[in-house]
Formats: sequence, C-alpha cells, structure tokens
Amino acid sequence: MADSICLINQKGGCGKSSTCLHLAGAFAGSGMRVLLIDADPQGSLSQGLLGSAAVENLPMEQTTAGLFDERNFFGDLSKIIQETKFDRIWLAPANQHLSRFNTPCPEQTGMDQFAMRDFVAKQTNVDIVLIDCPPNLYRCSWNSMVAADYVVIPVPPEDFGTQGLRAVHQAVLNARKLNPELRRLGHVITRSDRRLLIHRSYETKLRDAYADLVFSTVIPEASAFKVATACRQPVEHYQPSSVAASLTRTLSREILDRISMKTKLRSVA
Ligand SMILES: Nc1ncnc2c1ncn2[C@@H]1O[C@H](COP(=O)(O)OP(=O)(O)O)[C@@H](O)[C@H]1O
Ligand SMILES: [Mg+2]
Repeated sequence: MADSICLINQKGGCGKSSTCLHLAGAFAGSGMRVLLIDADPQGSLSQGLLGSAAVENLPMEQTTAGLFDERNFFGDLSKIIQETKFDRIWLAPANQHLSRFNTPCPEQTGMDQFAMRDFVAKQTNVDIVLIDCPPNLYRCSWNSMVAADYVVIPVPPEDFGTQGLRAVHQAVLNARKLNPELRRLGHVITRSDRRLLIHRSYETKLRDAYADLVFSTVIPEASAFKVATACRQPVEHYQPSSVAASLTRTLSREILDRISMKTKLRSVA
C-alpha cells in the first residue's frame, strides 16, 4: 500500500502546492513512484505540471471533480490519472470543475465523505501519494484528511498565526472520527529567509510550541523553486545541484524517516 500524505493549511501562499510539486521530484528521483492528487479547485499544482491552458480545458471526468460527481460514482476513475513528462510521477489534476464540490461544513453534510479515500485506496501501483489541499478546511480538505495516512502542514515563518494552525489541528482531530489512523507528520517551515529576524524568531516560537512536530529541514525562499515551477518542473529535475533541490531531498528523507518511525512505534500525533 502507498503511504498517502495531505499537505494542508487554511492559509494561501504558504507553499502547499510548491512543496507537493518539488517533493514529487525528490521522491521520484530516489526511485519511488509518486501520485500527485490536486484537491484544490485553483489547480495550481496541475498548472505547475501541465500549464494553465491545458488544465483549464480538462473535462470534469478527467479531473478530481470526477470523484465527487454523483453521475461518475461507478464510472471509470482511472481516466482521472494522467502521466506527466517525468518518470515515476503521475497526476490527478484539478480545475474550476472542482469548485462546486468544495462546500463548507463538510462534517455536517450528508455528502460522500469517502470519495477521495476510495480513490486513494485503489492506487496500488505507486509508493507514495501527495494530496495538495486548498487554502480552506472545506469539503476537499476534509475528504483529503479522511483519505490520507499522514498530514504535513506547510507554514511560512511569519505572522505567528496560532489561530489558523489551531483550526488545522482541530480539523485533523475531527477527521480522525472517520479516519482514526490519520497522523500528523509535522509542520514544515517554508519560504524562510533566515536573514530576517522575524523569520528566525517565528521559527523559534514554532519549535517551542510544537517541538518534534516541526521538521528539522527548513525550506528557504529561493528563486530556484519559482523558476523551476515557471518551467513546469520540480526543482529536482530543473536544477538538481541547487540548494533548493538538495533541501527538498533532505525533507523527503525526513518525511520517510518519520513515516517509518510512526509505523514502528504506532505513535499518535
Ligand atoms: N520556497 C519557496 N521559494 C520561493 N517561492 C516560493 C516558495 N514556496 C512557494 N513559493 C511561491 O509562492 C507562491 C505561493 O506558493 P504556493 O505553493 O502556490 O502556496 P499555496 O499552495 O500554499 O497557496 C507561488 O508563486 C510559489 O511559486
Ligand atoms: Mg496551492
């Protein structure tokens, strides 16, 4: 069975989609087979791999909206997954068709809460699944948490934002009612500029508050990430010798270490 991780934070611009894209490159570079699932109606991750026009033109049944569409329940969901131009990376893309399914208060609706879970469970040909969530805790994020084994929370080191993080942690606890095995792997500090006092002090506060629930690896604000994304490539493929690629590889290894530790210890986080 593949390990599945959803990247979640109700803040936009904190690097969820970017981290998904570049981690996919690092995992694939180490020989793993990766499925990226875009659960965000904005489709940034999909556009980062396929380009805007191609993504906008995809019909619903070739996007993750097909998972939620009642008419497609018994349809051929394999049409949702497409190959990318990178070895060992596949994508289940999203576009504007997903918007109407991303409704608020997902726990309280009678709608299908397991649509994503059933889809992820069928992915036996990959080693790891990364799910990119939208910047809210609506139905798409909820379905992703119900589907995933693990949660990773990207956090930029600004604006302490404890309120926002608390809501994310509460959402994880709520999702455990349907998915008791869901575990938090940790917060990953993204877009950090250690020359800035505010960033260094935010990092200290985060580590004080969450201790081991913060990854040691810090992802810096680096132009290599932006340029690679603009070139529709993970930084591992675009510039493997860059610091950005090297740190992404380190993060990917830390993620795998944490997964194997949790599996061994069955620890709750
Ligand atoms: N580590 C980074 N260094 C430089 N730019 C980044 C980094 N992470 C994200 N970005 C850029 O910041 C913007 C928002 O990132 P994105 O991954 O789309 O955030 P989210 O998915 O959380 O909304 C994008 O333009 C992205 O290219
Ligand atoms: Mg995003």
